[in-house]
Amino acid sequence: MENTFVLKCGGSILNNLSENFYQSILHMREQGWKIVIVHGGGPEITDLLTRMNVETEFSGGQRKTTPEVMEACEMALAGKVNKKLVRMLSEHGLPAVGLTGQDGGMLKAEFLNQEHLGLVGKVTQVEPELLRVLLDKGFIPVVAPLAAAENYQSLNVNADLAAAAVAKGLSANRLLFVTDVQGILKEKELVKEISPETILEYISAGIISGGMIPKTEAAVSTLSDQLKEVMIVSGKSAFFTNGEFIGTKIGRQKEALSQ
Ligand SMILES: Nc1ncnc2c1ncn2[C@@H]1O[C@H](COP(=O)(O)OP(=O)(O)OP(=O)(O)O)[C@@H](O)[C@H]1O
Ligand SMILES: [Mg+2]
Repeated sequence: MENTFVLKCGGSILNNLSENFYQSILHMREQGWKIVIVHGGGPEITDLLTRMNVETEFSGGQRKTTPEVMEACEMALAGKVNKKLVRMLSEHGLPAVGLTGQDGGMLKAEFLNQEHLGLVGKVTQVEPELLRVLLDKGFIPVVAPLAAAENYQSLNVNADLAAAAVAKGLSANRLLFVTDVQGILKEKELVKEISPETILEYISAGIISGGMIPKTEAAVSTLSDQLKEVMIVSGKSAFFTNGEFIGTKIGRQKEALSQ
């Protein structure tokens, strides 16, 4: 779909989104972009699990999802976080519509590794029709990363990977990850541009860890002739000024030696 922009908004930044975040979205819409937002909800899920007295564990940046954890994921993602983000966008004059990946059969998934991760899904199929209908009418779909298994069981999908799947399913031209750091950091310095090869090196060296692992993997998996670069930016400050994004650019080209 022409001029389509998928923006993943991290749960990590949701309560700290700056005015500039909304201004950047308004600006992009003025420039003719159709925007889909996929959101995470890591801290809200952890908070709810703490209140439920349930321990939570991560493996390779993915949350191990028991049936009890899944219940918290649905409550936090489809309930609290999705509704809050829709309200905040509406307040800024952005016509948001809250959905989960289960609406309109949007995201179909299989178990990523049932034994090790439990109810964590890997998206196998995207049905973008509902998103297209909303985008054509000028709405901003806001999608919580829940998918349905073949037997319609609910699966928790890492929001970065869900955003990547949505971007591919819509043949979007742009994918942007909004998070709580400026981009990929190496020794506290922002890496402005990085290739898939260097990302793998950084993961093995432990420079990229935790939630940055699925994020970079999701970014790399979407690179194509249609979507030539993916950006990671911070939601704490302006990420779109003078037609440019500020953060880390992930592209297929090996970065210049000077970097
Ligand atoms: N090299 C790195 N550069 C920057 N951040 C990194 C790096 N390695 C690991 N991280 C961690 O990755 C985090 C971002 O991923 P995280 O999953 O926590 O946030 P998110 O994806 O925005 O939110 P959510 O998972 O709730 O959607 C950073 O806050 C940082 O702690
Ligand atoms: Mg994350």
